[in-house]
Amino acid sequence: MHSRNVLAAAVALAGAPSVHAVLRFSCSELVTERLDPLVFPGAMQSPHVHQIAGGNMFNVTMDPNRHNIGEEATCTTCTFSEDFSNYWTAILYFRARNGTLIRVPQRPNIDFDGARGGGMTVYYTATYQNHKPTAFQPGFRMIVGNPMYRTQAEASRYRQMTFTCLETLSTRTGETTEMPKQPCREGIMSNVRFPTCWDGKTLDPPDHSSHVAYPSSGTFESGGPCPASHPVRIPQLFYEVLWDTRRFNDRSLWPEDGSQPFVWSYGDYTGYGTHGDYVFGWKGDSLQRAMDANCDFYCPQLKTQSIATGNQCRQNQKVAENIDGPFDRLPGNVEITGPQPGASNPNPGNGGGSTQTPVQPTPVPNPGNGGGCSVQKWGQCGGQGWSGCTVCASGSTCRAQNQWYSQCL
Ligand SMILES: *[C@@H]1O[C@H](CO)[C@@H](O)[C@H](O)[C@H]1NC(C)=O
Ligand SMILES: *[C@@H]1O[C@H](CO)[C@@H](O)[C@H](O)[C@H]1NC(C)=O
Repeated sequence: MHSRNVLAAAVALAGAPSVHAVLRFSCSELVTERLDPLVFPGAMQSPHVHQIAGGNMFNVTMDPNRHNIGEEATCTTCTFSEDFSNYWTAILYFRARNGTLIRVPQRPNIDFDGARGGGMTVYYTATYQNHKPTAFQPGFRMIVGNPMYRTQAEASRYRQMTFTCLETLSTRTGETTEMPKQPCREGIMSNVRFPTCWDGKTLDPPDHSSHVAYPSSGTFESGGPCPASHPVRIPQLFYEVLWDTRRFNDRSLWPEDGSQPFVWSYGDYTGYGTHGDYVFGWKGDSLQRAMDANCDFYCPQLKTQSIATGNQCRQNQKVAENIDGPFDRLPGNVEITGPQPGASNPNPGNGGGSTQTPVQPTPVPNPGNGGGCSVQKWGQCGGQGWSGCTVCASGSTCRAQNQWYSQCL
């Protein structure tokens, strides 16, 4: 079977001896817009564009104390119809030689033809080594990756955030942590894999990520143990998103220095800032039942719907704006920063052919404990940003990265 072969290839790549219990399903596009209810709750609009899949409870604000998404949602774009979770990632643009930006469409994965907007393929892998995973709980949310990252060293803080240059739709080898440097015949696939160990109690910390961790030795695939701080094994959540670069593969359209022309909606040529967001929303105990049943692709324990039915679930943009281009600047005026992979003469600024000026981080003074709070929130510190006031731990200084992000460095 086709999907089996694809997965077998993925598993072989990971060096894992066996597979048990993998849910693999399609979630069509719900809406694509500049919202981010995890990092910028209430903000109409967030700094950069996301494509969002899943249930129709997605909103500008998603109250973390409201734990019944799976009961309140009325439709989902996913083919497992009890899954009202939301899944989102950034989107990709092509930057022409003259600087014009055009959105790169998405395309459906193998087996999922007809998924509106291409959507994404979602996997929940229970285990490779017969451990019993604990499903995510109502209220659980997490983010993996960081859109501020532009170097390999930064990106290495996350494991398994990669790109696949699709020679065919079933290419599953040659994953890279930076954007492919060469034209990819059938497109580029983003692989977004989340950590697989949980602290067992925190549903959504202010930084949306410190409650999860990677195995303390080995890998998820090799059955490596979870660290004592995060002892609970959770399923591996994994998104595949296919970017249809076919109409942009002609090298004569690429920058004259040979660099690759694709830039992420958060202003990144490198791909090191790739990230994914998750808001759990499975109905009742359906995900735990599927994990306990060792479901493998097909899951009689779960209700399903067709791709066409899932496609009927959609939201209008709440932030109404052109996100497809062509335009001169990214939506939200996001600056493009970082070296351009493949440039014969890499420019540490914003890459060959670019006319935008990279933003230099502006140090801002550490406000100490002014404001009376000391919580490290995602993407900001020093009392700036959208999610309330924060300070840095002693030994680090709050530095503004741009008008939206500041980090303790
Ligand atoms: C989104 O939030 C707005 C404002 O609170 C509310 O009016 C609307 O009903 C919400 N939409 C959904 C789908 O919950
Ligand atoms: C810039 O290049 C793109 C792609 O080649 C083209 O469609 C567009 O018309 C050009 N824009 C200008 C202003 O020349």
